[in-house]
Amino acid sequence: MTQPMTDHRSAGAPASRTNADLSSAVAEAMTLYTQANPQSQAKHLEATGNMPGGNTRTVLFFGPFPLYFTRGDAQRLHDVDGHEYVDFLGEYTAGIYGHSHPVIAEAITGALAQGIALGGHTRHEVALSGALRARFPSVELMRFCNSGTEANVLALSAARLFTGRAGVLAFQGCYHGSVFGFPYKMPAKSINLPLPTTLAPYNDLAATEKLIAEKAGEIGCVIVEPMMGGGGCIPATKEFLAGLRAACDKHKIVLIFDEVMTSRLSPGGLQKVHGVTPDLTTFGKYIGGGLPTGAFGGKAEIMNMFDPRRPDAAAHAGTFNNNVLTMAAGVAGLTKVYTADEALRLNKAGDALRERLNGLIAKRGAKCIVTGIGSMMTVHPGISGPVRSPADIAAVPQGLRDLFHYDMLARGVHVARRGMINLSVPMTEKDFDKLAGAFDEFLAVRAGLLA
Ligand SMILES: Cc1ncc(COP(=O)(O)O)c(C=O)c1O
Repeated sequence: MTQPMTDHRSAGAPASRTNADLSSAVAEAMTLYTQANPQSQAKHLEATGNMPGGNTRTVLFFGPFPLYFTRGDAQRLHDVDGHEYVDFLGEYTAGIYGHSHPVIAEAITGALAQGIALGGHTRHEVALSGALRARFPSVELMRFCNSGTEANVLALSAARLFTGRAGVLAFQGCYHGSVFGFPYKMPAKSINLPLPTTLAPYNDLAATEKLIAEKAGEIGCVIVEPMMGGGGCIPATKEFLAGLRAACDKHKIVLIFDEVMTSRLSPGGLQKVHGVTPDLTTFGKYIGGGLPTGAFGGKAEIMNMFDPRRPDAAAHAGTFNNNVLTMAAGVAGLTKVYTADEALRLNKAGDALRERLNGLIAKRGAKCIVTGIGSMMTVHPGISGPVRSPADIAAVPQGLRDLFHYDMLARGVHVARRGMINLSVPMTEKDFDKLAGAFDEFLAVRAGLLA
């Protein structure tokens, strides 16, 4: 029996139907998407003349062409074809404040009124570093940069200088930025830095301990996401992280937690949740109030290498490291909006939402699972779990992920192509109801493909 799928935007367009096979379902959904978005398609065509594939940020591309937005307000996005979406992508976690939070906007306009690109120090960087240190006690000293990628590259460099060992142990599936990422299926062309890197299996402590012991003379640091974000919202276990801490202590290796995404998952990140203290932590995304930023910090004995009062100081430059707009927005964000209490509230709401979505899956008996912690989650259609490593989600067909994405967009719900969902502060129960409704419809309409 076929069941029509309601596309709220394309009156007159053929309604897609439950399909027996995945490829025809994807093709049909893509046709509907194309019909509904002529202005985005035109903008994309124009962009291809300027940028390869019309693209300047790989993760934003999807076929046949991505959406172009005109504006965002609070938790909503508006595209060039006049559609409104609830933004559950949340700028891949950087958009935690939504798109127009008045407190953030006031901080930015206040800083703007006092001049940009001052080429000197201001009170704002003192305040933001203070706010971050207060929330993350493992950060005894810290420095700012301009992206999460930079933060990780700098942390790796700091560990190399500190230990005198260039080797890095990283985990299959983890992402540490555009030049240091290890997707389960590596792309044909990688632009990763040519660092001497050993890859270990995530959440497999015994195998990792063995690799660390074998390579201890070469490895200066172990870098890990305490929950894989882009890799599919796969949480590390407490035992795994504690085991890494012990192995690093034993072999005098610097332990780096990449909390670029996960620092938002409690008032003090996942290091607080698990009670495991890294030597260095890297930050990015939302800590600049939604403006470009990154930061790295940790043990004073490591970070003091950058003290310019020392004759042997390591130099770390960066024209915009302490730019006033980011610093001011970040202070307002951390101290007035995403306070410790708000972090608890939003992550509790995320846990409830994830449970609700998994409840809908159970009720329909669908093959699908939503993984994550708190306000970050990923939908994996076509598998049932458990999910402890990227190998556990490798069987999800890309077509099912694409279908989920098209189906959610057609219902005014903006999610990441990879199925990632991130909550933002302005969201309400009404938004969660909208997501849950659209998700349940996806489960119903696509039941044949999720059996
Ligand atoms: C865990 C993690 N580390 C580092 C980065 C890189 O941050 P940026 O995109 O700001 O360079 C990201 C970005 O998604 C990330 O998720």
